[in-house]
Amino acid sequence: MEVTGRFLRAANRLPVDTTPVWFMRQAGRYMPEYRAIREKRSLLEICYQPELAAEVTLQPVRALGVDAAILFADILLPAIPLGVGLEFARGEGPILQHPVRTLADVRALRPVDPDTDLAYVMQAIRILRAELRDVPLIGFCGAPFTVASYIVEGGASRDFLLTKTMMYTAPRTWHALMETLSAVLTAYLLAQIRAGAQAVQVFDSWVGALSPADYIEFVQPYSQRLLQTAQATGIPVIHFGTGTTTLLPAMKAAGGTVLGLDWRLPLEQGWKLLGADVAVQGNLDPAVLFAPLPEIKKRVVDILTRADGRPGHIFNLGHGILQNTPVDNVKAVVDMVHEFSLVAAAPL
Ligand code: CP3
Repeated sequence: MEVTGRFLRAANRLPVDTTPVWFMRQAGRYMPEYRAIREKRSLLEICYQPELAAEVTLQPVRALGVDAAILFADILLPAIPLGVGLEFARGEGPILQHPVRTLADVRALRPVDPDTDLAYVMQAIRILRAELRDVPLIGFCGAPFTVASYIVEGGASRDFLLTKTMMYTAPRTWHALMETLSAVLTAYLLAQIRAGAQAVQVFDSWVGALSPADYIEFVQPYSQRLLQTAQATGIPVIHFGTGTTTLLPAMKAAGGTVLGLDWRLPLEQGWKLLGADVAVQGNLDPAVLFAPLPEIKKRVVDILTRADGRPGHIFNLGHGILQNTPVDNVKAVVDMVHEFSLVAAAPL
């Protein structure tokens, strides 16, 4: 089947007319349209109402002209049917009311059927596929490690001490938790693909907290099951993490059609570590979007020069858009990427 559209073509390392660009967290509080909806509803209320989730997903597509849409949801939604509890306290990030700390806690996790327990996510995907037409829709989930870190810590963490203590002192409990999470997240991702997601991203945002040896022992088999099962459907799978310079080869071995690169190493060096047989996504520092336009342009062009027109580069930030980012600068980056890509003009 012919792959059309520059995002899906680049993900498959096919030639494109210009480098595709989208942003992690492209929907969110930096956008006035989003804040207007958030004034009246909580984050979870938006997720629970498929029409609203679809509307928020479309906001950046309309405002920025990005080459892909990412479903509006959150990596922690599966924690709700698992029975861990989820709340977003104002200004404090996620809180999981019943954190998992023991083998008995792992065994008490409830079975999850994504088609019923997370039916609102699937419904948002179906609405979006009908509305998006030519813009591809990215579904997503958290990777087992990053989701486990929230479920064990009970919220965000700086040093992941409870998570690592479980790994090092109660490995049976850790492996049982990862086993459960990889099964639930795999089923969740497959349900999103059946509902119509045309690509998926697996967010392992905090995996950079681990050494390569710990990654390989405690995380890789579970990420591998999730990534490779999703890849077997034939759609592109983006494997994303931050702080991953030393983990890239092991992450690539776990799977992914496209590997995320943060800003901590130059794009071509990251791509070299990974090998030419994968596509890459990245790697602008989100903080650069607060700089004046000439500085932004210098750095966008630098990344495009390092990618050098090779097929398989999707432009993105190295992590999500930060709160208070000027919308005009985000829009300017989209236009710069489209204008200054070094790709040979090839028919789509
Ligand atoms: O990218 C998108 O536009 C799609 C929507 C999306 C959200 N969360 C909505 C959201 C995506 C892809 C996510 C993923 C997510 N959620 C990750 C992985 C990506 C990353 O940034 O590393 C993580 C770690 C989470 C967990 C999470 N959700 C945290 C830590 C927070 C609080 C941080 C904050 O910015 O306040 C959230 C809340 C959240 N999820 C917001 C959005 C738009 C914040 C805005 C709001 O409260 O309205």
